[in-house]
Amino acid sequence: MKILVFTEKPFAPAAVKAIADTVNASGNELKLVEGGTREDFVEAIADADALIVRSDKVDRALLDHAKALKVIVRAGAGYDNIDLDAASERKICVMNTPGQNSNAVAELVFGMIVMMCRNQYNGKSGTELKDKSLGIYAYGQVGRNVARIAKGFGMKLEALDKFVDDAVMEADGIKPLHDVKELFANNDFVSLHIPATPETRNSIGYDLVMLMPENGVLVNTARKEVIDEAGLMKALEERPDLRYVSDIKPDAAEEFEHKFASRVFFTPKKMGAQTAEANFNAGVAAAEQSIAYLKDGWNKYQVNRF
Ligand code: 3PG
Repeated sequence: MKILVFTEKPFAPAAVKAIADTVNASGNELKLVEGGTREDFVEAIADADALIVRSDKVDRALLDHAKALKVIVRAGAGYDNIDLDAASERKICVMNTPGQNSNAVAELVFGMIVMMCRNQYNGKSGTELKDKSLGIYAYGQVGRNVARIAKGFGMKLEALDKFVDDAVMEADGIKPLHDVKELFANNDFVSLHIPATPETRNSIGYDLVMLMPENGVLVNTARKEVIDEAGLMKALEERPDLRYVSDIKPDAAEEFEHKFASRVFFTPKKMGAQTAEANFNAGVAAAEQSIAYLKDGWNKYQVNRF
């Protein structure tokens, strides 16, 4: 059967080779399209039995062309790029690959925090992370890796996640919180790891950001959609001590950069999962999961229902 890998942002070469080896060894056929156009996607998906993507948009109109598709695997965590309803209506299984790229994202959190605390390495005196407090918003795979690394820096930790028992956080030496206001009010740094859902979209704005202590830094390696950009901008205008670093450029990136200069930093392209290791882990997991689904319906990480 045909397994299509369609990625706007290519996997590292070693990951591509490992995906190809995995697919070939299974007796399936691999089609790889990197950096293709929408037309390329429409054409390539026509006879694909399985599809592997990253943040690439898989919408209803695209799925209309997918006559043979049985499974979509998002090589990564967030699947807000995939129209789950449209997939379910067509009885296409959608899976993600939880945990496979989470260390990479967590390491970037600290790459960006240190850069901001050292004034983007401009020679001016900065601040340290030791004994500062970090609030982790969502204690999933990325949040847990962030906690592990933060302990190495000697930070104090709190986390909020309504789907995780307090005992899990307490066992990791983290104070569980149940109110998002407390998370922002208590912590020098707040790191976002919530998915983009109808409930979380635009949920981080003026009221929460204004609660942050002096010199607070908001870190977003999750999704730009969870930020209320107008609210964040107003907070940064009123509080010249606050800073915002994000692995996802806001829609109003130019205005943020123009107004706040070195108090904001945005990666030019989402870089969190862009490491050789994360590409390898997520890519091979996606290939294995696609093969297993095509073979005997293995669906451990299915995120839709039909
Ligand atoms: C994820 O949800 O797994 C991350 O945001 C990584 O996305 P990417 O594969 O597009 O880099």
